[in-house]
Amino acid sequence: MRHLMNPLDFTTEELDKLFDLADDIQAHPDKYAHKCEGKKLATCFYEPSTRTRLSFESAMLNLGGHVIGFSDANSSSAAKGESVSDTIRIISCYADICAMRHPKEGAPMVAATKSSIPVINAGDGGHQHPTQTLTDLLTIRSLKGRLNNFTVGLCGDLKFGRTAHSLVNALVRYDHISFIFISPEELKIPSYLRDKLKELNIPFKEVIRLEDSLPELDLLYMTRVQRERFFNEEDYVRLKDFYILNKEKMKLAPEDMLVLHPLPRVNEISVEVDEDPRAVYFKQVQYGVYVRMALILTLLELA
Ligand code: NCD
Repeated sequence: MRHLMNPLDFTTEELDKLFDLADDIQAHPDKYAHKCEGKKLATCFYEPSTRTRLSFESAMLNLGGHVIGFSDANSSSAAKGESVSDTIRIISCYADICAMRHPKEGAPMVAATKSSIPVINAGDGGHQHPTQTLTDLLTIRSLKGRLNNFTVGLCGDLKFGRTAHSLVNALVRYDHISFIFISPEELKIPSYLRDKLKELNIPFKEVIRLEDSLPELDLLYMTRVQRERFFNEEDYVRLKDFYILNKEKMKLAPEDMLVLHPLPRVNEISVEVDEDPRAVYFKQVQYGVYVRMALILTLLELA
């Protein structure tokens, strides 16, 4: 039985297969409409979410399966002090697969060790968000036709943003990738990622100004400042509007650059950018459903 904790749990060949399956699901949805009949997905969300939870639910419903779960730790037995290890043992009796989001780094991993059903990490604290990364990779592959040869800019909260950490981790396995990390001093990428890139000899720069980097980028991954992970509100208020991508700044970017964002967006991308054909963050949401459908089928060995 397999779980998904980290995008690296799948080899690049396995990811290719998963993305091929997602492409086929997109092209022939009817073929997959009954694949999960009689199966149940449990969504255990100990932290707020709109997209991730609903896209898992929508994915399972599209496959003909059912969904159970909770979307707030206070409405689960966690409020009574139940451990994640106990909860997953219970959930294993009710469902066939579980997607878990938790504010504590590593909680879904702990659950996986006690689980008799596949567990998917749907975001653990500031650590990883593998299914967002699968979504990002499928979006890039679908719209650019490849996953190599990119200069990738990641902008915003690179310290706490788990989607950025997961994406960097996943992209380093493809050829000719270089990174430009655009963040204020206080929100730079964690040192473990910097060390990893140095070790792998992957070119990267860390800069503060977005405008200077825009002309060089093939992909721009914007992120929200992660308010819930700050220790004090003043720091958040000081940093929250550090970057605002607008129409004017988009003029500096190449014509074929893509702008991605895991969403939710706060102020970091002006709504006026939404009309720009390079802004693909709402398309990303749709790819997120296809890739979660492919993931559920793969982990349930129904692919
Ligand atoms: C992201 C997350 O939860 O980390 N959202 C998502 O799942 N698409 C990004 C964020 O909250 O900023």
